[in-house]
Amino acid sequence: ESGALWGGRFASGPSPELARLSKSTQFDWVLAAYDIAGSRAHAKALASAGYLDEDELGGMLAALDVLDADVADGTFVAAESDEDVHSALERGLVERAGKELGGKLRAGRSRNDQIATLVRLYLIDHGRVIARDVIHLIDAIVSQAEAHPDAVMPGRTHLQHAQPVLLAHQLLAHAWPLTRDLERLRDWLARASASPYGSGALAGSSLGLDPVLVAHELGLDRPTENSIDATASRDVVAEFAFITSLIGINLSRFAEEIIVWNTREFGFVTLDDAYSTGSSIMPQKKNPDIAELARGKSGRLIGNLTGLLATLKALPLAYNRDLQEDKEPVFDSVNQLEVLLPAFTGMVATLRFDTARLRELAPEGFSLATDVAEWLVKQGVAFRDAHEISGELVRYCEERGLALDEPDDAALAGVSEHLTPAVRSVLTVDGSIGSRLGAGGTAPERVQDQLVTLVGRVGAL
Ligand code: ARG
Repeated sequence: ESGALWGGRFASGPSPELARLSKSTQFDWVLAAYDIAGSRAHAKALASAGYLDEDELGGMLAALDVLDADVADGTFVAAESDEDVHSALERGLVERAGKELGGKLRAGRSRNDQIATLVRLYLIDHGRVIARDVIHLIDAIVSQAEAHPDAVMPGRTHLQHAQPVLLAHQLLAHAWPLTRDLERLRDWLARASASPYGSGALAGSSLGLDPVLVAHELGLDRPTENSIDATASRDVVAEFAFITSLIGINLSRFAEEIIVWNTREFGFVTLDDAYSTGSSIMPQKKNPDIAELARGKSGRLIGNLTGLLATLKALPLAYNRDLQEDKEPVFDSVNQLEVLLPAFTGMVATLRFDTARLRELAPEGFSLATDVAEWLVKQGVAFRDAHEISGELVRYCEERGLALDEPDDAALAGVSEHLTPAVRSVLTVDGSIGSRLGAGGTAPERVQDQLVTLVGRVGAL
């Protein structure tokens, strides 16, 4: 007998071409355990509404346990004739519970409310795994920041030397977006924790089954409010795909910095051998492949999101088979992040920074010019003029191949009467960094503050 869930009104079974097109067991089998959990909950709702007596419920749950174990150890697998995970598992249940009892479970549910529920359960579980992996990465960043409390580096805008900053400040700048991603996952979880079970195909159930019971059995907060919306919407899936894309993008920005820092020209970092690769032809090479894969996979994650959004665009309500296309992209995003994050964390945890070189480069490119301008403001000069004077000092130094702190007193006074020798107090990297005491600034006290705040924010999640 074929595993098809219909037949009554059909004179023939599906053509082989249709069966091949329609089949989803090759990717939806990862939902099998969730489907069985849904069946357990549904059986209890049927029993509590009087459609299964106590013996029948016991028999049904026992058969589902056997099926669960058989799926887990690979004894039960999808057959060629099974269309999807739901039809395969109904076949498996009937084989174990018998036609009479097994045939009762489908009452009051549809694959449409099933699939909408199962995909949420899958994403909630994997969202937890991804959140844990992101926390490990944030921990690695925080450890590197704590290990380098005094290290300074050239801060950049437009990839040009801008102002010196603490290395810890720059590193923590990558931890904050990831922390917000964790908060996004938490906010998403609140929306995702509604159970579409009981919505049926689209119109709801006439059997008086308790949707709250099912929701709670499945570990969800509550049932959904609208059976049409519950079976037709996939914004919960799209939002998850967006959050995973954003995690990928945030990794890719860190990755790009690591790739640049790791070049001979920058020479800011060395990668650990265990987290870099060699070349098959060039014996000297040591490549930042983890960072490059992060950069590459972020494109793939964006593709998964946009593909899903394109599937949803202008799709009429309620369920359409197009919705079967929601799963592969989001499953792929989960799989990619679950392999990428641990490798990325290992790479970050083992980065070695050349702090001497970072310190040497920090004041280059006249990166203290803003400090001169702000010092002038503190002496009562209008910022417009201060900017001009500081710019003239940069030009004076550039023409003579001098650093900003090298002109003598007379030369300073020649640029502007306001440039007294006292300006030299701000013409050091540590003086510049130490003066940036404003909220979120790069002064060591502020970086220590933000580190404590960050650890608290992550700890509260
Ligand atoms: N396998 C389908 C999906 O992934 C669920 C089945 C609903 N099929 C249907 N013909 N109503 O969306």
